[in-house]
Amino acid sequence: MENHQLIDLLNQMTLEEKIAQLLQLTAHFHEGTESEGQITGPMEEMGISEQMVTASGSVLGLSGAQAIIDVQKAYMSKNRLGIPLLFMADVVHGFKTIFPIPLAIGSSWEPELAEKSAEISARESAVSGLHVTFAPMVDLVRDPRWGRVMETTGEDPYLNSLFSRAFVRGYQGNLQEDTERLAACVKHFAAYGAPEGGRDYNTVDMSERNLREYYLPAYKAALDEGCEMVMTSFNTVDGIPATGNEKLMRGILRDEWGFDGVLISDWASIREMIAHGAAEDDCEAAYRAIRAGVDIEMMTPCYVQNLPELLQSGRVDKTLIDEAVLRILRLKNKLGLFENPLRGADPERERELVFCKEHRKVSYELATKSCVLLKNNGVLPLQHESNVALIGPFAQSDDILGWWSCEGVKEDAVKLGTALEERLQSGKLRVANGCDIHSITQEQLEEALEAAQTADIIVLALGEDSSMSGEGGSRTDIRLPEAQLELVKHLQKLGKPIAAVIFNGRPLDLQGVFNEADAVLEAWFPGSEGGAAVADILVGRVNPSAKLTMSFPQSVGQVPVYYNRFNTGRPLDPLKTEERYVSKYIDSPNEPLLPFGYGLSYTTFEYSDLTLSSLEMTPNQPLTVSVKVLNTGTRAGVETVQLYIRDVSGEVVRPLRELKGYKKLKLAPGEHGIATFTLTEEQLRYHHSDLGFTSDPGTFHVFVGSNSRDTLEQKFKLASSQLA
Ligand code: BGC
Repeated sequence: MENHQLIDLLNQMTLEEKIAQLLQLTAHFHEGTESEGQITGPMEEMGISEQMVTASGSVLGLSGAQAIIDVQKAYMSKNRLGIPLLFMADVVHGFKTIFPIPLAIGSSWEPELAEKSAEISARESAVSGLHVTFAPMVDLVRDPRWGRVMETTGEDPYLNSLFSRAFVRGYQGNLQEDTERLAACVKHFAAYGAPEGGRDYNTVDMSERNLREYYLPAYKAALDEGCEMVMTSFNTVDGIPATGNEKLMRGILRDEWGFDGVLISDWASIREMIAHGAAEDDCEAAYRAIRAGVDIEMMTPCYVQNLPELLQSGRVDKTLIDEAVLRILRLKNKLGLFENPLRGADPERERELVFCKEHRKVSYELATKSCVLLKNNGVLPLQHESNVALIGPFAQSDDILGWWSCEGVKEDAVKLGTALEERLQSGKLRVANGCDIHSITQEQLEEALEAAQTADIIVLALGEDSSMSGEGGSRTDIRLPEAQLELVKHLQKLGKPIAAVIFNGRPLDLQGVFNEADAVLEAWFPGSEGGAAVADILVGRVNPSAKLTMSFPQSVGQVPVYYNRFNTGRPLDPLKTEERYVSKYIDSPNEPLLPFGYGLSYTTFEYSDLTLSSLEMTPNQPLTVSVKVLNTGTRAGVETVQLYIRDVSGEVVRPLRELKGYKKLKLAPGEHGIATFTLTEEQLRYHHSDLGFTSDPGTFHVFVGSNSRDTLEQKFKLASSQLA
């Protein structure tokens, strides 16, 4: 349809029809309408009439080609103006082929592969009838107590932005031409990843400068890539719930960034303004949300019940509603739904494509590239002739898909025990659970000790179950559960080498296992092919290359701990740790256990010859930075060479290190490579106290290395623009 036709359509709509477009409900409201034409329980409770459902604009959480075809057809047969429904769902890290969780995908430092995973997710979802995914989630995070860190790619704004763009490209592709793609909905705008104390839905309070510097870039990156939708966040931002925050939504998102797509509330977040203490009732909540520019209300009826009255009383102008409806119609039009309301939904194609071999291969590849080797005293990879005891609650667990695994079926996941059995010589593997996630019995312990008795090495498969992270999965104690630490203690007494593999959704406090084990592999929730990927790393068919994108704390007491922190006025001198009046803990190092960017390989890399093309940069003359990296080990491997800078003195204090680029080098044993970076004045800009985005002339440090801690260092000066 042409734009003028959409406007004609808008003009034909009654007020009730318009407002109903702004309502999003789960599918069971629709199925209820269908069966008897009766008002079902949930509708009655919510005060929603059958008529509203008949005209409502979108559906949440339904999938399956036939189911969606049925609902769409039934809906279209009743909808007066033939406006089709939009079907949306949380396709976060896969539809049925489940990829590693986003925090793991981040650890791959491979946005191209993230894009591929999103494309596959889109294709599987679209042939199953979906139109929109509530992804990517790009909230920057610094607190591993928050369960939703598993949904993000970590603590760095630059890296998060690269992944944000990649996910959007992968989901959307050419949305108008290709019916096997989805519209993306970036979330949760804004700063949902910074809840106080890591408690989900909690208060977020920070300076606007901080917000703009760290938290906003990844949302903006998604929009720059053409992301069609944005979702609000549950939290307050500067004391005002994001969903009713005019400054954030109208001011920054729409006016400043020019976003003209659909803005959706998070689940019930319009009504939640009452609990926040920012609205007296549903009517006030609706008023604040529509004024802020929220188009679709997810799962509460504040709009449908109150907008008519708000219009009548003149508090809300008709144009606000018309604009919101038009944005929704435009999205439907862009997806081609007016011409083809069923779009990609195709039961036959669904059978062919969903969870097919090629998709699972990509999931496998991504899993091999996202498991991070955190420690290795030479016990990994497993020796061919070794007798292996695989022990722990994840030895044969299928709970490896992680939270938000959409249509993923646990039973389809490749378990570690099964995969290892296939890879080791017959009779070389013994498997025992040792304990459950949270409990251990004498019998389990004895079985584990017995299995370990004849082993040359113990592989411990430990972790959090998938419900311990994800939404509503905040924890104050982020160690492994006590029962599992107990198991480690008993097995350690045997004096045999231990390689621990950890399945989980957040950086953990690894006390009780990191020092006790000889090797530690962070497997995250690795997805459908997880067991195969982890087993291939364990036996050495694959050389790990992933690097952390979120720091692992020494203990929960250090949290929040992140690499791009300030120095303070009293920084700790590592050679004088006994000094009292410096910024430190008296019972813990300041440094995290494992820093951002950290991850080992089965080979080793040596860095040398950090060279700058000049000691001075001008706005017109970028610097070239290069470093030599030599593979000093005996295996081929991939190294992610990272470049950080520090602005030594700024109008506003700058972090000790900021990631500005990285390069991957694949090197054979004995081979060296040169990683070359271009560094421009633009990359040195930041938000000043007046929120202007400029650079400060003066001295900068440049660091290049294997992670944010272990680097070579050089200096250069940025000349002031007048001199340039
Ligand atoms: C979550 C969103 C999600 C929505 C719909 C909410 O509880 O915060 O991330 O997209 O539910 O399932």
